[in-house]
Amino acid sequence: MNDLLLDVIEAGKTFVRGGLLSRETIVAVNKVSFQLAVGRPEILAIIGESGSGKTTLARMILNMEAPTSGRLLLGGIDLAAISDSASRLAFMHKVQPIFQNPFESFNPLKRVERYLLMTRRRFSGVAGERATAAAVDAALHKVGLSLNEVGGRYPHELSGGQLQRIAIARALLAEPKLIVADEPVSMIDASLRTSIVNLFRTLRDDLGISIIYVTHDLATAYYISDRIMIMQKGSVVESGDARTVLKAPQHPYTRLLREAVLLPEVPNAKTNRTPSMNGLISPGPPERRA
Ligand SMILES: Nc1ncnc2c1ncn2[C@@H]1O[C@H](COP(=O)(O)OP(=O)(O)OP(=O)(O)O)[C@@H](O)[C@H]1O
Ligand SMILES: [Mg+2]
Repeated sequence: MNDLLLDVIEAGKTFVRGGLLSRETIVAVNKVSFQLAVGRPEILAIIGESGSGKTTLARMILNMEAPTSGRLLLGGIDLAAISDSASRLAFMHKVQPIFQNPFESFNPLKRVERYLLMTRRRFSGVAGERATAAAVDAALHKVGLSLNEVGGRYPHELSGGQLQRIAIARALLAEPKLIVADEPVSMIDASLRTSIVNLFRTLRDDLGISIIYVTHDLATAYYISDRIMIMQKGSVVESGDARTVLKAPQHPYTRLLREAVLLPEVPNAKTNRTPSMNGLISPGPPERRA
């Protein structure tokens, strides 16, 4: 029996940029290895500065990008072997993505409810209208919404926070074992971020889903993660239990990151109050947040 949900074995990705005269090789991900166990759902945060390879690694796990070296296995199946539509569907049943901009995840011309119903039909095969609607409603309830509230609305008629919840509900329709969320809250209003990251905890605890949470934001990562992986220039420079890594960071880069934000439970010396999570701003570069 295979007891690994995800097995990333020395995965690497090299991009070649430029033309004939100036060719540049970029090592986006360099020999990254880690595992997620079956039956032990956890939240793994991948943290690192801009360009450190987080998205490239996430895209390889989602099989949206092929590694140039190493291998990635999901439930013992090499992602490189996924070729036909049946194996692709089976893969999507196990792993679902959540992206940074929820507005890009939805067709602006389609009512979100249509999209959710279509998604459910795709994953459950032929099922009656009522059963499909009930499954969509149940998924929406898991993210604090309902088909009643969402029904009839187009994406632009919903807030970013609502839409990101709907994107999570859409992912749940596949009944996945793993969700890969690439900066899922960086475009969400700060006041709503905590509720979204808390939702990840609920998914882990109530539905047994593991979550790979890619972020610049050390505060939310510390707050919700079981395990943390710090990336720098494509390599993992530090990893382990979230509390251990952040309380006693070994790598200078981890220390730097730690200093960049206040940890949620470090009380403010003047007021002796614990700062709220909502006020903590990601140390990510502001120019990418436009
Ligand atoms: N399709 C591509 N072609 C060429 N280079 C790429 C491509 N995708 C990513 N890169 C490069 O690979 C490196 C890693 O990029 P990646 O997007 O994975 O970083 P990141 O950690 O997600 O950054 P950010 O925090 O800004 O999202 C960068 O140098 C980037 O320019
Ligand atoms: Mg990225």
